[in-house]
Amino acid sequence: MSCLRTLYGPLLSLDFSHVEKNTLCEPFDQKLIAGFFLTGVATLFASIFIIAPYGRFGEMTKLFKVPGKFGWIVQESMSWIFFLFTFIKYSDTLLHGSHTTRNLLTAVMYLTHYFHRSLVYPLFRAHSISGQSFYTFLSAVLFCAVNGYQNAKWLIYSQNEPTFHSTIIMVVGFSIWLFGFYFNYKSDQTLIDLRNNNKDKTQKYFVPTGGLYNYVSSANYLSEIIEWIGFAIATNHCASIMFAFWTASNLIPRAVSIHNWYLEKFPGKIPKHRKAVIPYIL
Ligand SMILES: NC(=O)c1ccc[n+]([C@@H]2O[C@H](COP(=O)([O-])OP(=O)(O)OC[C@H]3O[C@@H](n4cnc5c(N)ncnc54)[C@H](OP(=O)(O)O)[C@@H]3O)[C@@H](O)[C@H]2O)c1
Repeated sequence: MSCLRTLYGPLLSLDFSHVEKNTLCEPFDQKLIAGFFLTGVATLFASIFIIAPYGRFGEMTKLFKVPGKFGWIVQESMSWIFFLFTFIKYSDTLLHGSHTTRNLLTAVMYLTHYFHRSLVYPLFRAHSISGQSFYTFLSAVLFCAVNGYQNAKWLIYSQNEPTFHSTIIMVVGFSIWLFGFYFNYKSDQTLIDLRNNNKDKTQKYFVPTGGLYNYVSSANYLSEIIEWIGFAIATNHCASIMFAFWTASNLIPRAVSIHNWYLEKFPGKIPKHRKAVIPYIL
């Protein structure tokens, strides 16, 4: 509730006095999170009609393209750079708070994901990543920087007294995050193996199978969304809830486009029961 009040307070009345002290970020942070929420809603609607021109849809742009791996490393690194910088800057507040262990553990969850995503994935795992439009690259840089800053700041400010109840929620959130992280890694690996093992060099894309691909075409997106829902449960603050919402707004419409692309590109080869991103539903 405090998250919703914090969110709608600045949007509706610009009055911050009703926000609980333990979740009170500076007014700048509250406006930022409100803006983040609004751009999440805008992204949801925009991505239903416009497909971000990168990866298999990268050919749609005629403008200057940012090379795949380079763009990926730079944009995703913004997440951990801004997170770490903010975390260190405000670490005094954190270390004098009452929920230090929870906050350090959740910081490790965030950083593990982004060290992997920005460095290990493009440098050591992905065989090739297609280029992207300059606009997509720039939006990703901005998104990752704001998201890294916000998540560190809210982590530091949202220090409630640890209770049995909050510890259980933390453990549940962490388990969901771990499940998502494992399946995201595994699902990405399925795509990497498909490209690495193919003998027909004229073809770039193949039908993925196994694991969560038995249920959905974008198993990597499904597990990424699960991961950030787990993180939001574990941290229980505004920035992480907004991040989970943003991720779903961004990835669900794209997954639907990818599913339609598979159906068109590989007619008759996609199992009938396979959905785009939510098993049995969507
Ligand atoms: N949190 C967020 O908002 C967010 C946003 C975007 C991505 N991500 C995560 O970042 C990761 C990569 O995202 P993405 O959008 O690039 O995913 P993607 O479109 O599924 O592509 C992932 C990689 O696999 C290759 N690939 C895709 N489909 C393939 C197929 N059928 N056969 C062979 N190779 C295939 C792609 O090559 P090409 O590049 O040549 O297409 C790319 O290198 C995912 O785990 C995703 O969850 C997160």
